[in-house]
Amino acid sequence: MPPTPRLLVVDDEPNMRTVLQGLLAREGYLVETAADGQAALDALHRTGGAVHAVLTDLRMPGIDGMQLLAEIVKRYPGRPVVMLTAHGTVDTAVEAMKVGAFDFVTKPFNADELRAVMKKAVNTAMADLDIVEGSGRQDAAQAPEGPDAAPPATSDAGEATRPVDPNQPIGRYGMIGRSKSMQDVYQVLNKVADMPTTVLITGESGTGKELVAQALHESSSRRGRPFIRVNCAAIPETLIESELFGHEKGAFTGAIASKPGRFELADKGTLFLDEIAEIPPEMQVKLLRAIQESAFERVGGLKTMKVDVRLVAATNRNLQVEVEEGRFREDLFYRLNVVPIHLPPLRDRPGDIPLLVEHMLERFNGRLKKNVKTLAAEAEAAFRAYSWPGNVREMENVLERLVLFCEGEEIGADLLPEELKSGGSTVGLNAAPRLDRDLTGRVSMKELVRETTAQLEKELIIQALEQTHGNVTRAAQLLMISRKSLQNKMKEFNLREEG
Ligand SMILES: Nc1ncnc2c1ncn2[C@@H]1O[C@H](COP(=O)(O)OP(=O)(O)OP(=O)(O)O)[C@@H](O)[C@H]1O
Ligand SMILES: [Mg+2]
Repeated sequence: MPPTPRLLVVDDEPNMRTVLQGLLAREGYLVETAADGQAALDALHRTGGAVHAVLTDLRMPGIDGMQLLAEIVKRYPGRPVVMLTAHGTVDTAVEAMKVGAFDFVTKPFNADELRAVMKKAVNTAMADLDIVEGSGRQDAAQAPEGPDAAPPATSDAGEATRPVDPNQPIGRYGMIGRSKSMQDVYQVLNKVADMPTTVLITGESGTGKELVAQALHESSSRRGRPFIRVNCAAIPETLIESELFGHEKGAFTGAIASKPGRFELADKGTLFLDEIAEIPPEMQVKLLRAIQESAFERVGGLKTMKVDVRLVAATNRNLQVEVEEGRFREDLFYRLNVVPIHLPPLRDRPGDIPLLVEHMLERFNGRLKKNVKTLAAEAEAAFRAYSWPGNVREMENVLERLVLFCEGEEIGADLLPEELKSGGSTVGLNAAPRLDRDLTGRVSMKELVRETTAQLEKELIIQALEQTHGNVTRAAQLLMISRKSLQNKMKEFNLREEG
């Protein structure tokens, strides 16, 4: 079970502290409070930095919010700090973002917005930091609970909960990422690369599933043997059996010669079944048998073929749900899911963004004969705040365009595409109307929800179509809806097929 997230709320106004503590405690967080910057630092020191996120007021006597932020960035790197700023001090808030604040919320605050921001901060911390709770392991197990408890024996509080050793390589197997979640991926990869076990790679589109499949092959003793990829979504249903298992001459119209399938081609190597969820039901049965017995027949053939193939499968769908809804055979699912590797979406590991940017800039500079060195601070903040629905692939595309259009050595925020400029995701909570603003016209909640949902659907569809260059089938896959319902929605929103 994941630990209960801990928050530290810092505000010099007692009433405000009480309100914030109550509101966040109701969300299930363990909330500690501090009356000023010094008290906050003391509390952090006492617990060995074991909080998932800090919410702090900006103006406080003594050590103020900005100074506190700077100290936390220095001593407890990676700890998300959310700033509470009075109306009219947005400049300072932007300044805070540059120093490394996770986000800011303006006072008087909107409770929904605050909840959403804190949730995002906590999720980020959960993904990137290795914070353990009282009942957990070593150092943090000694973290005292009460405010009066003695300081921990170790004086180097920051190190105890440091996410990942920064000296660790920034990536493995051609994958960039130093976050906790990526380290976990490398670890599993390391362990299973040379085993005959089937691996199922899951993750949203563009998270690097194919990269992992290749890495598995390259770091196994099968390297040097064939790595054969089959995109199950791209092969017409009628051809998939012969593609996988081959066919004999005359097996069907057009089969003028016999031909080996991908299973045979991958003999002694790795067979990568990409987009496995798209495989039709009859083929699922045949595939199951081929996996169980390492044997199959060519279409129209009588001889049973035996091969030695290491299987890797990938999908951006939730196969468990596909099973529950009857689209994917349970027995096949269990056969494939022997070792699962889940790739985190980019928005859950924002700490890796600067590394990825650096790495990609180098690549695009070489390719485009440019000399772009860095993102301006504001642009980098936008990169971190954006939700990246298309993950690393989307970021590659955005950066390539930016490098192309950038004149100097630094990419300014003005060059960013609209979806990044609008500060965070164009979808989800940020796009939802604010009650305080929108309810003044006395709109019913139902109506509001309906409108917002429609708006959100439309935006998601446009994004998916853009990403797939107007390919409706691919866009439907991205959105995990059927092609038919995508077309209906497109009609409803007046979106034409060409995108
Ligand atoms: N961790 C990473 N480090 C560097 N590049 C990455 C990383 N993850 C993905 N990429 C790059 O992002 C692009 C998309 O990766 P990949 O094709 O492996 O994603 P995918 O999960 O298979 O996506 P889809 O579901 O759309 O097929 C590739 O160009 C890949 O090189
Ligand atoms: Mg892929």
